[in-house]
Amino acid sequence: MRSVAGAEPMNERSVTAEAGSNIAFVKYWGARDLERAIPANPSISMTLDACRSVCSATFRPSDGGAEGGAGADEVLLAEGDRLVDPGAAFTRRVLAQLDRLREWAGVRGAFRIATRNTFPAAAGIASSASGFAALTVAAVHALGREVSSSELSALARRSGSGSASRSVWGGFVEWPVGDEALCAAQPIADRDHWALCDLIAVVESGPKEVSSLDGHRRAATSPYFERRLERLPDKLERVRSAIRARDLAALGPVVEEEAIDLHLVAMSSRPPIFYWQPATLALLAVVRELRAAGVGAWATMDAGANVHVLCEPEDEPRVAERLEAEPAVERVLRDRVGGGPIWREGAEL
Ligand code: PMV
Repeated sequence: MRSVAGAEPMNERSVTAEAGSNIAFVKYWGARDLERAIPANPSISMTLDACRSVCSATFRPSDGGAEGGAGADEVLLAEGDRLVDPGAAFTRRVLAQLDRLREWAGVRGAFRIATRNTFPAAAGIASSASGFAALTVAAVHALGREVSSSELSALARRSGSGSASRSVWGGFVEWPVGDEALCAAQPIADRDHWALCDLIAVVESGPKEVSSLDGHRRAATSPYFERRLERLPDKLERVRSAIRARDLAALGPVVEEEAIDLHLVAMSSRPPIFYWQPATLALLAVVRELRAAGVGAWATMDAGANVHVLCEPEDEPRVAERLEAEPAVERVLRDRVGGGPIWREGAEL
């Protein structure tokens, strides 16, 4: 039976949650307050379906006297059939989020966290967004708390991956700039509104050299940072209205331009950040070639070299085939708009 809001968990409790990654149409890049994950600008994304993270959280409460601190937590990552140590950097970020959630819930105890991604981590596919959204949903429910999606979004936002705030909703999502309590993502339209496809041409599946956290830190050193912000209100409105109207011909040009703007800021930051590889440019040319042939295909890239290509379902086979024909493409992940997180009792990992 699910516990009621605010009830203390009496026993050990395990929950498994799943959340989709997301691809930003208008990017989060740069922060007003990075520590509190208050972004410099509003962002808009589409939640993905196939690129997901699954996270099992077990919470073992301890009474007031016992040590329930981060030292007792266990963090594991699934690699194939094995659960491995995910490495110091990832573990540190997970432990910091678990501390925040314990403090928020006002409880002591230890977590066991096991996480699995269905896609390559840290390669311009936001594994940290889905990973921290799934972690936050699983841990909050393992703590016996029932909260609104807005509150989950604000909690996920603090994880160190601000874009995780958008992955607590399905469909099309906007994360506005707000002060601490109000800085939570909200849905624009649910997944059934528009069956948009995202074909992810993977040209690099290893971890990227500069984390998005470092990118946010450096963003304001770019002479184009403020200029991008000035142009954003118009872009945001064009993206919102194209989503409402299910109009890819209106959405595509803004999304492609916005991705180039993000990388322009990154490349002109001090020190500069180059996420693109030669294959990224080759794929941008392929997408233009598809459009010249009458196919509605539009590209966007997050903080990595991989290229996400948006298209309508009827064009998906043709676009995927063309992307797969590029020698530098390792594989094409065929994704589409996904729903919000789901969770169930029990530890599956
Ligand atoms: O959520 P973070 O800190 O990993 O930053 C995400 C940055 C981008 O993926 C490049 C853009 C976005 O809004 O998702």
